[in-house]
Amino acid sequence: MTNQYSKFSHPKFSDEIKNSVQNQLFEDISIYDNSGIYERLEGEFKKKFNVENAIAVNSGTTALFSMFYGAGIARGDEVIVPSYTFFATCAPLHQLGAELKFADCGDNGNVDPKTVEALVTSKTKAVVVTHMWGIPCDMDELMDICKRHNLLLLEDSSHAHGATWDGKMIGSFSDGSAWSFQGKKILTSGEGGFFATKHRRMYERAVLVGHFNKRAKKEVRNEDLKDFAITGTGLNLRMHPLGAAVVMPQMSHFEQMMIEKRETAMLMKKGIELIDGLKVARIPEKADPAWYALPVLFDKTKFTIGLREFVTKLNELGAVEADIPGSTCPLNGYFLFHSPHKISQDYSEKIRVEKRHFENAINFQNSMFKLDVWYGEERHGFIDNYLTIINKVAELYRK
Ligand SMILES: Cc1ncc(COP(=O)(O)O)c(C=O)c1O
Repeated sequence: MTNQYSKFSHPKFSDEIKNSVQNQLFEDISIYDNSGIYERLEGEFKKKFNVENAIAVNSGTTALFSMFYGAGIARGDEVIVPSYTFFATCAPLHQLGAELKFADCGDNGNVDPKTVEALVTSKTKAVVVTHMWGIPCDMDELMDICKRHNLLLLEDSSHAHGATWDGKMIGSFSDGSAWSFQGKKILTSGEGGFFATKHRRMYERAVLVGHFNKRAKKEVRNEDLKDFAITGTGLNLRMHPLGAAVVMPQMSHFEQMMIEKRETAMLMKKGIELIDGLKVARIPEKADPAWYALPVLFDKTKFTIGLREFVTKLNELGAVEADIPGSTCPLNGYFLFHSPHKISQDYSEKIRVEKRHFENAINFQNSMFKLDVWYGEERHGFIDNYLTIINKVAELYRK
């Protein structure tokens, strides 16, 4: 029973994007340094996200890897990571041989600062957080913990493009932040990502690992790193210039899009919370989320059917975007995170993860479904359609 307000398309491939890609085809499809489309895109990104050093890379996963490598995380270091996140937040740490310490989440899916602090040891180097579905983590408490224990605070902001904490842009006041620009993300280059940091040395190390020769020679100023500039230190992580051309025009509509997404989220929240048994995940007072998605919590005691059946009914009636996330889940469910010693490279022997039960993460996953957060002219049609369907299913299966 789908209609025109069932499936939203994002990004919108406007003439502006098509022209940008076409122009880029003629300008350059491989750029060795940080000139051309990289310079324009990184310049815009730095302005909008209020960051000092930023580098475009070829995925969110490699943005996270660049951040961890940039931070100097290595064998023997412990890193506190969220148990509830997409696996790419933590998987790149395997390549560096760090030991992962998983922290359970609180009531809104974001890491609980108290569990983070309880995991700090003399070997802890960094705390990694993910702003789940675009709702900022409790940054005051996390900043305070990291300051008191002299730890780096590193963010996976893949869901949180444009989110703010106490009026400050997420990604602008920690030690480093990584964003995915993959096809579904708020700003997207199809495949791609960004890494930003206020620390010059961290940035230069990230340049070295993924942007050898011309860019590294131009940008690496630290004396002890300069010798590696020609070869870099191993990888090529450059964003494809055509991907950069896809996202470039989106930058100028970003603020308007955020206004519209925020309006949608507030209208959906208001409508959903009139229904007994459904509510949107808690938003901390100082947070202004980016609304990558709208996480809705389902109270099974109020309905005659469970979460999965509820979402199936929503889908059947045309709310096809209602979704229970699959691969974003408590990470110890994945083989990589509980049996890393099975991997053949010997450095992964170093990684040990206790097989623990992350109660809050499991509860959150078992009671949550998500919706897209629409923008543009059609958003009101989507809001009406989805609220009508959600109300109908809730009434049909009310206890
Ligand atoms: C929270 C989070 N971190 C990291 C990633 C990885 O990004 P990418 O798919 O661009 O490598 C994603 C994206 O899917 C994500 O949702």
